[in-house]
Order: sequence, then C-alpha cells, then structure tokens
Amino acid sequence: MSRVFDGSSTMASLVFSEYNLLPVINRFGIRLGFKDKTIEQVCEENGVETSFFLAIVNTYMNPNYLPHSGLIGFSPGLIVDYLHKTHDYYLNYSIPRIDYLLDGLVNSGQGEGMALIRKFYREYRHEFFAHISDEEENFFPYVRSIVSGKPNATYAARTFEQTHTNLDEKLSDLRNLIIKYLQPTYDDNRCNEFLIALHNLEDDLKDHARIEDLILAPIVEQVEKDLGL
Ligand SMILES: [Fe+2]
Ligand SMILES: [Fe+2]
Repeated sequence: MSRVFDGSSTMASLVFSEYNLLPVINRFGIRLGFKDKTIEQVCEENGVETSFFLAIVNTYMNPNYLPHSGLIGFSPGLIVDYLHKTHDYYLNYSIPRIDYLLDGLVNSGQGEGMALIRKFYREYRHEFFAHISDEEENFFPYVRSIVSGKPNATYAARTFEQTHTNLDEKLSDLRNLIIKYLQPTYDDNRCNEFLIALHNLEDDLKDHARIEDLILAPIVEQVEKDLGL
C-alpha cells in the first residue's frame, strides 16, 4: 500500500507523489501555488471538507484504501457532485483528447490494425457515453432525490449495483491490442502519447468506479434503510 496522506501532510508533497492527482485536486476547485501549506489549510481556504478530500485522494493512491471511519458520514450529495465533475472532465477533456490523439495515430500509419483500433475505440466511446448518461439521468438524480428527502421510487441503489458496468477493462484490452499486434507503420511519438492517454484515463476510471461502487452505493443503501425504503 502506498503512503496514506493526512491533513498535516503538505499539499505539495501529495502532488509530488502522484502527478495524476492534479486533475483530481482541480475537481475540488484547488489550484497550484500551495507554498508549504498543509492539505488541511488548503482545503479550508477553498471551502473543501478535508476528510472528504482525503478519502478521495487516498482512495486514488491506494486501491485497497477505504475511509472506514466515518464512511457513512459523507453526504451522498457531496460524492455525487464530485463524480459529476469527474464526468465533465472525461467528456470535456479526456475523450476529446483521446479522439485527437487517435486521429493523429491513425493518420500516421496504415494497415488493417489501424482500422481495427478505430472500430474498437468507436464502439467503446459509444458505450462510454451511454454509461455516463445513464448515471447522470438515473442514478445521480435518484441520489439527489434521496438527499432532498423526496425519494424517487423508480430507482434504487440495488439497481445501480446490479447494472453498473466496468469501463476500464476495455481500455486495457485496447492497449493490449496496440502493444501486442500493431504493425509498425506508425509514428512512434503519436502512438506513445495515445497509449499514455489511455492509461491515464483507465487509472482515473478505476478510481471513479471504486468511489461509485464502494463508497457511494453503500451510503445510498444505508440512507434507503434509514428512510425505510
Ligand atoms: Fe460515473
Ligand atoms: Fe460508473
């Protein structure tokens, strides 16, 4: 298990230890220029609940980390807001960037492999948008309805748990396909950039799914029990 951060660690040390946390930190409205301030100080200055911030970054750093103490203490609304910002990041940055990098890669090479990669990615992209839309249109509004005390009876945490699919495995399949079978007719730098972008999205998606499956869904289930649903 890698290092677990607490509120007295400096925010800079968190970034130095994992640069992929930068977009995660940005989702809280936190931006660079930390000097030697602690995580707690920076969170307070930005109106962010430190324990929630730590739960999110530590879950990112350590796949087995779960904020056991006070797990139920986080507001489901707060978690949904964070997950919604993450969706925005995927839709407005990660996917358009991967689209762009894929075009560059495909245009730099030839052969059946390129057509296959494009087809695979196009299907994945379709599935990706359907997954995000389903959460934005069904699960998140349901969670917000529960928070507001007027539960929308057409959905349940169990529905989410039973139907929630995995988005990162297919990205790993795509990376595998490229690394093992691509004919060497492409531009090296474009291919490397594309693979790194896939890898970064895959990591972020794993963390995102852990928050949805292991933090949000159990909290919502608990709230359902409390409300007698
Ligand atoms: Fe999601
Ligand atoms: Fe999801």
